[in-house]
Amino acid sequence: MNFKLKIVLASALLAVGLAAGAQTVIKFSHVVAADTPKGKASEFFAKKAAELTKGKVKVEVYANSALYKDKEEMEALQIGSVQMLAPSLAKFGPLGVKEFEAFDFPFIFDDTADLHKITQGAVGASLMAKLEPRGIKGLAFWDNGFKSFSANTPIKTPADLKGKKYRIQSSKVLEEQIRSVGGIPQVMAFSEVYQALQTGVVDGTENPISNFYTQKMHEVQKHLTLTNHGYLGYAVIVNKKFWDGLPADVRGQLEQAMKEATTYANKIAQEENDSSLEGVKKSGKTAVYVPTKEERMAFKKAMASVHTKMADRVGKEILQTIYKETGFDPEKL
Ligand code: LMR
Repeated sequence: MNFKLKIVLASALLAVGLAAGAQTVIKFSHVVAADTPKGKASEFFAKKAAELTKGKVKVEVYANSALYKDKEEMEALQIGSVQMLAPSLAKFGPLGVKEFEAFDFPFIFDDTADLHKITQGAVGASLMAKLEPRGIKGLAFWDNGFKSFSANTPIKTPADLKGKKYRIQSSKVLEEQIRSVGGIPQVMAFSEVYQALQTGVVDGTENPISNFYTQKMHEVQKHLTLTNHGYLGYAVIVNKKFWDGLPADVRGQLEQAMKEATTYANKIAQEENDSSLEGVKKSGKTAVYVPTKEERMAFKKAMASVHTKMADRVGKEILQTIYKETGFDPEKL
């Protein structure tokens, strides 16, 4: 069946189902564990959605890439095989919306307060609008946290990444970030990282601690340095045709459920990362190193070139807006 016919058929079935009072199912697929900020927030949304729509909508959450891996899930959303996702912001570059890669720049945000100035302001709204011509409607930004580097060898200076293969998400900015310190970037689906680390296909990776711990990467990485060098968070998105086809009252209830889930997600993100860090430490398998201010600054300086090299790709305008809001200035490093 061709793509357009599939969409027409899916919309017709939805309309008939709703008219007959049938339950609407929203498949919500994601790639991380259930006990992560995103995993917990998606379950929270499912519960709220059932409550507020009085059972008219059932949200089925599929964690840990049970339905789709990174790249496949975006395609599945566009053809309507799955209705809702919360991919990390890095995953919108490959879709052709390169401005999203602005979030991948090293050290561009100091903390989540800096980040929220962007995601909750005009830039966030304009980024979401860019998804619509691709058949995607953006509903919310959900936090995870800041990424740290891990490997089987200690990481104290940028030179410690030299010649090492690092798994990254599919982002040109992240590629450049690894290259800036002499590392070798390897794009790979999230579900494949544990095994790649275990078998030595890659030497290291970068993650918020909640992802590191819940994927059990501490079993296969001896060293973790809390570089907090870059941000990883999510955009919750739906298939636009599906969303627009919902009755207005149901859509309103789901918007309310999403609003509450977003407050919840952003409230628990830091707590989840903190408790995961405790888990890593308790495991005794990974040595956790907190870099000194000077050591962290050395990474910041080493990676400053990423900002100049990748500005044209991502768009100078969006970068300047972010710099203005956050006070970050790569030229002053
Ligand atoms: C990754 O691929 O590292 C992340 O996008 C996983 C996630 O969704 O947090």
